[in-house]
Amino acid sequence: MTWQNIIMQGDCLDAIKKLKPEFRNKIKIIYIDPPFFSGTDYCLKKKTSDSSHVSAEVKDIQTYSDKWDGGLEEYLEFMRSRLEAMISLLSKEGSLWVHLDFHVAHYIKVILDEILGYENFVNQIIWRRTNSPKAQSKGFGTQHDIILLYAKDISAFSTKTVYRKYDEKSLRPYSYEDERGRFRLIEIEAQGIQRTEGRRTFEWRGRTAPYLYRRETLDKWWEEGIIYESRNKRYSKKQYLEDMPGIPVSDLWLDIPPIQGSSKEYTGFITQKPEKLLERIIDCASGGQDIVADFFAGSGTTSVVAQRMGRRWITCDWSEVSIELIQSRLKGLEESVKDPIKSRFVRVSSTKE
Ligand SMILES: C[S@@+](CC[C@H](N)C(=O)[O-])C[C@H]1O[C@@H](n2cnc3c(N)ncnc32)[C@H](O)[C@@H]1O
Repeated sequence: MTWQNIIMQGDCLDAIKKLKPEFRNKIKIIYIDPPFFSGTDYCLKKKTSDSSHVSAEVKDIQTYSDKWDGGLEEYLEFMRSRLEAMISLLSKEGSLWVHLDFHVAHYIKVILDEILGYENFVNQIIWRRTNSPKAQSKGFGTQHDIILLYAKDISAFSTKTVYRKYDEKSLRPYSYEDERGRFRLIEIEAQGIQRTEGRRTFEWRGRTAPYLYRRETLDKWWEEGIIYESRNKRYSKKQYLEDMPGIPVSDLWLDIPPIQGSSKEYTGFITQKPEKLLERIIDCASGGQDIVADFFAGSGTTSVVAQRMGRRWITCDWSEVSIELIQSRLKGLEESVKDPIKSRFVRVSSTKE
């Protein structure tokens, strides 16, 4: 049977139970952005009059509540059961990305260490989610979210190196230019502690030095025109900007801006995450038609990005407002790319074990 993506409405614990027989050990990425234990009620800001008009009326529609009568204990129990369930769906090479913030990230880290194993913890990613933190009377304004990344099995897990665009500071060393373009200089002579006793010094093109490379390699680079000769006959290797894919991304994600109200992808869903964030995650930890799942879908960012990137996807949320929003975002995508999206809708209700 041809694949159909899945939109599920209901508690994700029930959704996962329903998926288990078919999808056990099959999912490559699970990204979740669950309630953060923030003590807040969230809404969707929906334009009710002509949406193209600047002064269109905006109505707040309640989406989900992140208030817990039973306090932290109730919240952690809620998360533990759902995390345990979803992990069974991950493939051996799969990964789990749990998006949180300062409220509970450290408690969830301990729970995940228990259920997935400390050795499978890969990263704590810091995403700068706002450029203007609120001033606080005590302590410091919060500017970042935390994404905990775990592998199902660290020995089978891999990621693609992700690069970000050069910024002004990192472009500074590329201050040289020739007919091939901008370049920077790379040392080819041993420096400082590289000047070990055993290092051979030899003469090459009139300069005797402790070279880091063999004579044949230096000759080859000379032929290729990628050796730079300074006025005092010191040699370096040219590294051209156009040959560099960018700066490798670390666990500090400062280059993905939050969604602005004026941005094209903004839906009015208050906790909506930027598509660029999901693009990075899906790109580095999956490929081809791998399955990507999100069990706290909200406005459906994960499914929209997964669809655009050609992945198969499963998405779930228990709120009617979210499901309608996800369906309308997917419809918008379908219309813009003029390619029908194959998906089925499944409503799940609570089942006893
Ligand atoms: C922070 S939002 C997700 C936002 C999303 N990442 C986006 O980009 O729009 C969390 C979502 O989890 C949903 N949710 C909370 N508890 C749930 C549960 N037990 N099962 C399914 N969805 C749930 C809420 O309705 C809410 O839409």
